[in-house]
Amino acid sequence: MRISIIGAGYVGLVAAVCLAKLGNKVSLVDIDVERLRQISGGVSPIHEPGLTEMLGQVDIETSTDYRQIEDSEVVFICVGTPSEADGSMSLAHIAEASRKVAAVLKSKNDYCVIAVKSTVVPGATDEVVIPILEESGKKAGRDFGVCMDPEFLREGKAVYYYMNPARIIIGEHDSRAGDLLQGLYRDVKAPVLRTSLRTAEMIKIASNAFLATKISFINEIGNICKQLGIDTYEVARGLGYDDRIGSKFLNSGIGFGGSCIPKDLRALIARAKRVEYAPGVLEAVLNLNDGQALRMIELLMKHVSLRGATIGILGLSFKPGTDDTRDSGAIRIVRTLIDEGARVKAYDPAAVESFRKLFPDVEYLSAEEVLDSDAVLIVTEWEEFEHLDYRGRIVIDGRRVRKAEEARIYEGVCW
Ligand SMILES: NC(=O)c1ccc[n+]([C@@H]2O[C@H](COP(=O)([O-])OP(=O)(O)OC[C@H]3O[C@@H](n4cnc5c(N)ncnc54)[C@H](O)[C@@H]3O)[C@@H](O)[C@H]2O)c1
Repeated sequence: MRISIIGAGYVGLVAAVCLAKLGNKVSLVDIDVERLRQISGGVSPIHEPGLTEMLGQVDIETSTDYRQIEDSEVVFICVGTPSEADGSMSLAHIAEASRKVAAVLKSKNDYCVIAVKSTVVPGATDEVVIPILEESGKKAGRDFGVCMDPEFLREGKAVYYYMNPARIIIGEHDSRAGDLLQGLYRDVKAPVLRTSLRTAEMIKIASNAFLATKISFINEIGNICKQLGIDTYEVARGLGYDDRIGSKFLNSGIGFGGSCIPKDLRALIARAKRVEYAPGVLEAVLNLNDGQALRMIELLMKHVSLRGATIGILGLSFKPGTDDTRDSGAIRIVRTLIDEGARVKAYDPAAVESFRKLFPDVEYLSAEEVLDSDAVLIVTEWEEFEHLDYRGRIVIDGRRVRKAEEARIYEGVCW
């Protein structure tokens, strides 16, 4: 099929590469010229295993010009949906992309499907995207189709999970649009669920809210275990054997971060409040998470006085396998350390460049140089941290890196 993808970020670029690999003709539209230049030069602008290799195997057109979408059968909208200051979701990029798509729709003769892949709050495709697209003078369901095709990719394993998803959710305005989109995924083996647009939107945002809840739950159990001298990881193993609970997402630590889970949770809370529902569980999940990373500082202060101390940070990305530092616990930790007068050294295998933009004054060094500090905080569980020499050090571990238990003083955040 002829596919266009609007937005060449984590979601758009991975979808572009994978859909091209599946034999489609793909063009990628973005407003970021530098990003497109890297992609057309065969270099992935994001750190994602396998992506640069796959970019070299496929042929993708890149452009800033929306006329690129003129002969497409499916147009995916993959632009960002960041948080507003009050936690609600900004649909500004989605609206802007829809306006530009509408301008091309005006003169487009063939039927095509516009599929929203960005995560949006329930109602957004119906209430924002479709009215803007219809400003073209064309009618949804008659002249063009609309779907909401939520993305469940996991950064760090994005290509794998795009090709091997747990499920494909197709929210559809009408069945013609849904049929066409389902046809695109015929070679991907996964259960397909076809729903209304707003159900698909809710499935995505509720999935992230559930994952957040599971993490805050096990962190709460972990915080209690720490006080009671119980190993929370053993407790989690015991819980996980119950298939109603499941063993995944039960690693207690410093909580969730990243570009999606916190933002989507805040957006769902704000959306619930707009319909005058008080989402007490979701708010508690968020509140616990907001304080969790800083528990490392409390533990650190038992052993080191911060003013004038040199504190090493191992790991800056919100999880291993990615260079994404958005809403990473490391941000809150480093900001607090600097405010308290500590000198910060840091190491991360992938995320230094994006972290440096936020904290230019932190010293970015090798892992070994970072270990040579008054105390070390392990913030991300990169596998290579299992091979460092922690002997003689003071280590506060936010991620249960077993090797670090050899440290002279070792404290786990929940164990
Ligand atoms: N990153 C993830 O793991 C992930 C997973 C599932 C869903 N999502 C959702 O997918 C969406 C995109 O996320 P992302 O992480 O890929 O974002 P991103 O910030 O990495 O990429 C967004 C891209 O859109 C481009 N853009 C913005 N406005 C544009 C416009 N008007 N026209 C063309 N391009 C434009 C930006 O330049 C950028 O390259 C968000 O709604 C996010 O919540 C993300």
